[in-house]
Amino acid sequence: MPILKNIGFLATCKDEGEQGEIHPIKNAAIAWQNDTISWVGSESDLPSEYNNEEAFDADGKLVIPGLIDCHTHLAFGGWRSDEFAMRVQGKSYLEIAKAGGGILSTVKETRKASEDELYEKAFGFLKEMAKLGVTTVECKSGYGLSLEDEMKTLRVYQRLAEDQPMHIISTFLGAHTIPPEYKDNRQAYIDLVIEEMIPRVAEKELAEFCDIFAEDSAFTIEESRRILTTAKAAGLTPKLHADQLTSCGGAELAAEMEAASADHLEKISDKGIEAMAKAGVVGVTLPLASLYTQEEPLNCRKLVDGGVEVAVATDFNPGSAPSYDLPLAMMLTCNQGRLTPAEVLKGASIYAAKAIKRDLKLGSIEKGKLADFAIIDAPDPNFWMYHYKGGQCLRNFKKGRKLYEKSS
Ligand code: NIG
Ligand code: FE
Repeated sequence: MPILKNIGFLATCKDEGEQGEIHPIKNAAIAWQNDTISWVGSESDLPSEYNNEEAFDADGKLVIPGLIDCHTHLAFGGWRSDEFAMRVQGKSYLEIAKAGGGILSTVKETRKASEDELYEKAFGFLKEMAKLGVTTVECKSGYGLSLEDEMKTLRVYQRLAEDQPMHIISTFLGAHTIPPEYKDNRQAYIDLVIEEMIPRVAEKELAEFCDIFAEDSAFTIEESRRILTTAKAAGLTPKLHADQLTSCGGAELAAEMEAASADHLEKISDKGIEAMAKAGVVGVTLPLASLYTQEEPLNCRKLVDGGVEVAVATDFNPGSAPSYDLPLAMMLTCNQGRLTPAEVLKGASIYAAKAIKRDLKLGSIEKGKLADFAIIDAPDPNFWMYHYKGGQCLRNFKKGRKLYEKSS
């Protein structure tokens, strides 16, 4: 039974209490057996039977639960750096999309890419994410938009889940946008999603969640309701890209559908906040997306005050959020979303676990949970987020095994 000793500040991030309550233990230790935590507490209380065990030293630093990036579009072909340069000069995300760029240009590149090419690229991203303290990643399809190309993307995630140590959670996002070959017949594409894609994804068990881009410029609330109802009946849990560009009732639909999460939410209405709080839908803030699209960031404080649990994720994708730096997204959520470092930490751990329905196994450092945790080069969460400099993860453990160690 290995142990981690000399933890200066252990942020256990247990679910109980408010968003800011991270249930810290000072001068702590963690013990685990195989992949599961067996003991957590003050080091002075460590039972004597642990004394002769293999011990790791946290050097008095901060230890946090393995971070969970609960919203990414991990597998895609190509990049879109040209659009980035256009956006900073004043072209909007929507203008670029309408001119044939945006999601559709990534669809073209993703269709061209082989399964192996997508796999290799995504594998490389995961390795880099592990260096940041991330141990679990939710991954969406949505750049294939044909039966074959959506399956190809989801198979990449299935292979990654088997071949490498990071936890992968797959989400089907066939309703990301209408592909070019259906541009004059959106109804036929929606029928394809409903009648062929969802049943196939469910039958092959290629995804656990079904997401949708609910937006006037993508799928209307009525269309979204239809698609998510079908997905739910097929056993996929709904998730939504909601109220990102316009206040169109996405949050309210998330509540109605009992979605695991509603994400983006920059334009959420007061009614939407109320409905999500009542239904217990996790709100996922994606501050890198609002930053890179030059949109007003989400006021997360308003959601937390309204009773919504707010998770933080990167939205990593080649268009609106081309960075997988979750600690950076956390720092932005402090500064722009007005949450404290403790609140964003709970947002990237236990509440992120709730957004992917894994809170029984992941997201906090407690007996019985998987032994996922990271040592951060800071004395506590406040200092980590305040003196933000990147590269502060010293060691990262997944299921009790070393996933990454920074060379000194
Ligand atoms: O989450 N909002 C829709 N989809 C993605 C963007 C995808 C893209 O630009 O390629 C998002 O921001
Ligand atoms: Fe997204």
